[in-house]
Amino acid sequence: MLETESPELEAEFTATVTADGRIEPRDWMPDAYRATLIRQIAQHAHSEIIGMQPEGNWISRAPSLRRKAILLAKVQDEAGHGLYLYAAAATLGADRTDLTEKLISGRQKYSSIFNYPTLTFADVGVIGWLVDGAAICNQVPLCRTSYGPYARAMIRVCKEESFHQRQGYELLMTMMRGSDNQRRMVQESVDRWWWPSLMMFGPPDDSSPNTERSMAWRIKRHTNDELRQKFVDMSVPQAEALGVTFPDPELRWNEERGQHDFGTPDFAELMRVVKGNGPCNAERIEHRRRAHEDGDWVREAAAAYAAKRAARAKGVA
Ligand SMILES: [Fe+2]
Ligand SMILES: [Fe+2]
Repeated sequence: MLETESPELEAEFTATVTADGRIEPRDWMPDAYRATLIRQIAQHAHSEIIGMQPEGNWISRAPSLRRKAILLAKVQDEAGHGLYLYAAAATLGADRTDLTEKLISGRQKYSSIFNYPTLTFADVGVIGWLVDGAAICNQVPLCRTSYGPYARAMIRVCKEESFHQRQGYELLMTMMRGSDNQRRMVQESVDRWWWPSLMMFGPPDDSSPNTERSMAWRIKRHTNDELRQKFVDMSVPQAEALGVTFPDPELRWNEERGQHDFGTPDFAELMRVVKGNGPCNAERIEHRRRAHEDGDWVREAAAAYAAKRAARAKGVA
């Protein structure tokens, strides 16, 4: 249905989102709203799924049974997040097989943060603290996003993300109470992840062309720069309590603004990684493609079983 053909329906849609109401799958919505949401939700789902890889790298080498159990549970949560989100995208008419195809052929993106390597076990803690922490800043406002199924999926996702963040922080606290080597390992990891974490909020507002429309549609509730600022303000006292520093000489409290000043992330690097030229892009996609192919027989068996059950229910078999 073309937007211009339905002025009354469009007026109703606009009134609903402006009044902070929810748009549900059966409601009329502009084609561009649907397309924007499918793209955003798919990108989010892909990020959860690809995000399992950097930490998954350490499951077999976790330093204790307890750390292994925690990491397994965390990585499994991310798989669950991916599944809720693919299901939310399906309510908009997206086909999951098609979304997976688009991911492994590079036509749809995922968060650029997962294209960085995990070099030490401290990275598991720093990812929980900073990467899941940045994800929380981005996702808490999405619990009030205008599309109902997405908003409801986010409520559960955010509860689990806050556990992820705390487990990361607890791991780092434990390492900081350990040896000098362990403390150095934590600081080295923070130094590598700080800037990529700030890039998770996307390009600066003046070069983020879709922000305005997404905010008018109440898909997005805050701009990239607002969320980045919030994340910096939240992280500084946590770093102090932990005993680490961030690698930013411009980072300082601004009394007048009541917020921290901080340096500008290297957005040219962000664009390079987004375009596929980060340290691990090719490896991540290749791994996902292989996992998808290895899962072929499972999908086939599930489809055959479903067909058999349906036939039995009809009394055919
Ligand atoms: Fe997640
Ligand atoms: Fe997480």
